[in-house]
Amino acid sequence: MAENLIIAEGGKTEKYQVLYDQIKALTEGESDMIANMANIASMIHETFGFWWTGFYRVCSIPETEKEMLVLGPFQGPLACSRIAYGKGVCGTAWAKANTVIVPDVDQFPGHIACSSASKSEIVVPVFKDDTVIAVLDIDSADFDTFDETDALWLERIVALI
Ligand code: SME
Repeated sequence: MAENLIIAEGGKTEKYQVLYDQIKALTEGESDMIANMANIASMIHETFGFWWTGFYRVCSIPETEKEMLVLGPFQGPLACSRIAYGKGVCGTAWAKANTVIVPDVDQFPGHIACSSASKSEIVVPVFKDDTVIAVLDIDSADFDTFDETDALWLERIVALI
């Protein structure tokens, strides 16, 4: 298994290409979803130096018999541990089963502020058999960090889980 993360010189696309190849190699040898989420969060976070990078998993909550997003492997400061369906950017991406890009979190109605340092955000659903089983959430300390290039590559990356 790889021991050192290689971070490409150049732009976003070059960085994602090299990152994707390493994540593909790593996940091919590991079937445990949490282990893969943990390494993917770390590798994305280190490559781009984002503020917060991590997963929320769709979990059944026995007390309520409802599903919620529950915090999974992440890198960065502590974060809220549960998010309801349709709430915040994460719950919206889950409900829409679509990637959500937020250039300015203050302009997103219902945004859940885990940290005031977070300025922009992207949330990418993770699918298993057409059902959303988790979301990848990335926060940036700068406005307008994420675009369609991020969406494309992050969707490819989470498909490897
Ligand atoms: N901002 C997210 C909550 C999770 S934290 O950013 C880690 C949201 O609105 O869903």
